[in-house]
Amino acid sequence: MQLNGKTILIIGGSSGIGLESIKHFLAEGMKVIICGRDGLKLQQVKSKFPSIATISCDITKSEDVSLMHQLVVTSGGIDVLYHNAGVVNVHSLAELTAIAFATSEMETNYLAAVRLTSLFLPELGKRNEVALVFTSSAVAYLPAAFVPTYSASKAALHSYVLSLRYQLSALHKNIHVIELIPPTVDTEATKSFTSKKVSVERVAKDLINGLKNNRSTVHVSIAKPFYYLHRFFPSLAFSIVNPKNPIR
Ligand SMILES: NC(=O)c1ccc[n+]([C@@H]2O[C@H](COP(=O)([O-])OP(=O)(O)OC[C@H]3O[C@@H](n4cnc5c(N)ncnc54)[C@H](OP(=O)(O)O)[C@@H]3O)[C@@H](O)[C@H]2O)c1
Repeated sequence: MQLNGKTILIIGGSSGIGLESIKHFLAEGMKVIICGRDGLKLQQVKSKFPSIATISCDITKSEDVSLMHQLVVTSGGIDVLYHNAGVVNVHSLAELTAIAFATSEMETNYLAAVRLTSLFLPELGKRNEVALVFTSSAVAYLPAAFVPTYSASKAALHSYVLSLRYQLSALHKNIHVIELIPPTVDTEATKSFTSKKVSVERVAKDLINGLKNNRSTVHVSIAKPFYYLHRFFPSLAFSIVNPKNPIR
């Protein structure tokens, strides 16, 4: 896919992987719009990258998403919708709080992606060459038991992406559907995690390469060997990711 001159909307572009990817998309000659909930964070990002547009939006709220959609469409539309926002919680499934964590993760990591995709598809379908990108995770196929409901939300997203790609291949041949699958990444969200982490820069560079080369799945770093290990030796792969006590 040709990136120069195209417009991308990064859902969750104010920190971590989304924030890092801004400078890589700008370097490719793209126009960048980002959204997030925290207005202050958005302002700080805007002062660092004055050419981008920012929209304050909570993607778990349908009215916020509709407003953002209207704003984006009336200002010229987009060529790439990048669903990157995500929340993660370390918790025990034995606690009563499990349902609250699961609800928040499913709403942000999965249901919002469904909502945003169906809302933006009509306009995207009319353009020449466009992409829908989803930040999934290696835990989509290999759950990390210390983030149990997060893993389940990414498994839902992964399954959704497979069906979406299949359905769109018949409806809209101009739309690439890309699943970005990072292992643990060094961001604010994982600062308490002890596992080995890859840099946000590595993730952003792999994503750009994946987009340029029309890849459908972008496994980042060790996510790829883990994928194959899980396919052929599922119990071994599970025990490597979940060594002893699941609550770390
Ligand atoms: N870090 C990892 O190890 C890792 C590994 C694999 C996959 N991933 C996935 O990669 C994505 C980015 O992760 P990250 O570590 O970069 O996270 P992060 O630093 O916490 O950034 C998350 C971004 O999403 C936004 N966001 C969260 N909830 C939102 C909501 N309801 N509405 C709008 N925006 C929202 C945040 O802004 P506000 O808080 O201001 O809303 C922020 O811009 C996530 O989908 C995550 O699951 C991360």
